[in-house]
Amino acid sequence: MNDNTVIKAHNLTKVYDGFTAVNHIDFAVRRQECFGFLGPNGAGKTTTVKMISCFLEPTDGSLEVLGMPVRTEFRRIKARLGVAHQENNLDPDLTVWDNLRVYARYFDIDAATAARRSEELLSFIGLTGKRNSAVDDLSGGMKRRLILARSLLNKPDLLILDEPTTGLDPQARHHVWDLVRRLKSEGTTVLLTTHYMDEATQLCDRLLIMDRGKILTEGSPGDLMERYEAANLEDVFLKLTGRDLAE
Ligand SMILES: Nc1ncnc2c1ncn2[C@@H]1O[C@H](COP(=O)(O)OP(=O)(O)OP(=O)(O)O)[C@@H](O)[C@H]1O
Ligand SMILES: [Mg+2]
Repeated sequence: MNDNTVIKAHNLTKVYDGFTAVNHIDFAVRRQECFGFLGPNGAGKTTTVKMISCFLEPTDGSLEVLGMPVRTEFRRIKARLGVAHQENNLDPDLTVWDNLRVYARYFDIDAATAARRSEELLSFIGLTGKRNSAVDDLSGGMKRRLILARSLLNKPDLLILDEPTTGLDPQARHHVWDLVRRLKSEGTTVLLTTHYMDEATQLCDRLLIMDRGKILTEGSPGDLMERYEAANLEDVFLKLTGRDLAE
């Protein structure tokens, strides 16, 4: 693994009770890029992301994250990752502020640092005025932004966003996109999954298209469109599978 490689997967495989969700895939993510996993429901995106973020153990193959193998170094890896899961896992009984405060404890961030970071991050996501609100009173877009802020508390070297804008209206999606672009411009390496081709086109330097546990193709959005003589990434998927990405 050279210094510029942040994730390296070889023959990476996950089998759930006899069902192969991720089937011997190879990929590499470089430092400071935004790398995307684009694919329809059930493609294996979340399963792959959960192996990278050390929530699931690979069934087969090798996986190195930040230069360390996930099987043995999961604790050290987790300390340096920011992860925003696909499901909303904010604590609905706590305020916005307390959600950040409690999460910071998992990373052993001292109270003063956590408070300072939380203040900066609330300003970054535009929710300073909501610090004392109950999470249940936030809109869907505000919750997604709070999940993003929470994943940044430990100043991660690698940020992993699983479907950061699913279910959001266009305005809320654009807000999240702006935040991801700002993080990228500050040098954060971002890995995201999406089943929106416009999201992948807008945010990703490089991406792979995944379907039924396999990688179909990989490249920059522009390269892929050129290679498959396609008008957009949805069209690339259609040409490769004969199916619509949205199905
Ligand atoms: N815990 C589990 N046990 C058994 N099968 C699972 C489990 N989690 C996922 N799967 C199966 O693995 C496949 C890949 O699921 P995964 O959640 O990784 O897909 P995805 O690409 O993230 O889809 P989506 O776009 O819907 O989030 C699916 O067929 C799913 O049903
Ligand atoms: Mg998923």
